[in-house]
Amino acid sequence: MNVLFVASEVAPFSKTGGLGDVAGALPAALAARGHAVKVVTPRYGSIDPSAHALTRLPEVVHARGEVGGLWRGRLGGAEALLVEHERWFGHRRGLYQEHGRDYPDNAQRFAFLCRAALEVPRALGFAPDVVHLHDWQAALGAWMLRHEHPQAGWAGRARSVYTIHNLAYQGVFPKELVPAVGLPWEVFRYEAVEFYDQLNFMKAGIVFSDAVTTVSPNYAREILTPEHGCSLDGLLRHRAGRLSGILNGIDDAVWDPARDPQLAAHYDRAALAGKARCKQALQRELGLPVRADVPVVAMVGRLAEQKGIDLVAAALPALLQLDVQLALLGSGRRDYEELFARAAREVPARLAARIGFDEELAHRMEAGADAFLMPSRFEPCGLNQMYSLRYGTVPVVRAVGGLADTVEDFDGARRGTGFTFHEYHPAAMTTALRRALDVYRDARAWRGLQERGMAQDFSWRASAGAYERLFARLRSS
Ligand code: ADP
Ligand code: GLC
Repeated sequence: MNVLFVASEVAPFSKTGGLGDVAGALPAALAARGHAVKVVTPRYGSIDPSAHALTRLPEVVHARGEVGGLWRGRLGGAEALLVEHERWFGHRRGLYQEHGRDYPDNAQRFAFLCRAALEVPRALGFAPDVVHLHDWQAALGAWMLRHEHPQAGWAGRARSVYTIHNLAYQGVFPKELVPAVGLPWEVFRYEAVEFYDQLNFMKAGIVFSDAVTTVSPNYAREILTPEHGCSLDGLLRHRAGRLSGILNGIDDAVWDPARDPQLAAHYDRAALAGKARCKQALQRELGLPVRADVPVVAMVGRLAEQKGIDLVAAALPALLQLDVQLALLGSGRRDYEELFARAAREVPARLAARIGFDEELAHRMEAGADAFLMPSRFEPCGLNQMYSLRYGTVPVVRAVGGLADTVEDFDGARRGTGFTFHEYHPAAMTTALRRALDVYRDARAWRGLQERGMAQDFSWRASAGAYERLFARLRSS
């Protein structure tokens, strides 16, 4: 099959979170199964063509009178096409925002991305069977495919799939932008993109695509409820027949403790000794006392409400009483950045906080930590818990969204890969963490947890197969 992906971030070219990981790895996994996959994404100014062996193509794409350049890069056996446009992507330092403020023209920027992407088939002589759109930034593509392309050509045969990576970010803009993004006012209605008198990009993806997916089966069920539906649960219930959940995979070549170039030592399930060396190296790097006996608990992620960071902040005094070392890497809300940086200065032997985005350190933290904390308020899938399982780092998670699909609670004997809790409350989280710390003292039980976690296969092989079946089903319908 020929598949055209549209995503606003694609690792290794650009990434602010899990979307980048997924949009970088899934195309390669589909290509490995014999499909022809092209991934369209912006060429942000921060992307250095020489670092990624990008080549400029002679072809260009047109979108409402504007012209975009094209750069080609590789994603394993898939091809990346990076759209160049000075005004929309060129001179920016961030992807979506700078200094915590969204760019005021994000609606126009990503509408342009969608139009440019749907021009790629014509420019490069490629006829997609499936157009796979990701998150709000690509959502208008579902409407454009049906309404702006001659249905006699490839677009008439192509099916569209819209994947929700995070329902909390819907791309909501003032309705005055409807003409600016090239939509006719007829689309500004409740059954389409109107949302409380505003323009909602994500609704276009949900309403106009042939299938809607989200990134774990459990989250696909949760978003049908008012609690997790972010005011779109009614629409999603209406579309429930076309909605399914496909669990994300992880790129197990990039996240592999036996080969990871970031690590001080390598290890695998059969020989875990290298993990102790990684722990030492991490403690040294973070300025924590180098002690083998004290458990290191890591957190890596956006410092946002979603990630349960308020629970960690509330529980911090209690956590700092425990005999643990907490290692935090994250950026996001300024107040949390300051809170953790300050606490780390006050108790440097118990807490290390690195504020910022550091891909390489994220690998060393996954390898060097004993346990990994993810107390998310909601979590469409979550990748870090799967990286943790692969790195023998025992996850302590709230049983929500994809976390509930991937981490099985320890039964105190021979089953389970981590520790889960249910209630969104600091005490519930602390209890789960204490439970983990107790088991940590029992070397055999801990080793069992690590081995069972490391034996799990969360690679893209299974998930890519599920997308392939969905694409095939749509094509024959
Ligand atoms: P989300 O997409 O909601 O942020 P995921 O768990 O799906 O959450 O993916 C987050 C990805 O971004 C992981 O690969 C994680 O390692 C990475 N990440 C998040 N914050 C940081 C950071 N501060 N430094 C390095 N990597 C980070
Ligand atoms: C989103 C979600 C996260 C998911 C990622 C990739 O950012 O917050 O849970 O893993 O997308 O699908």
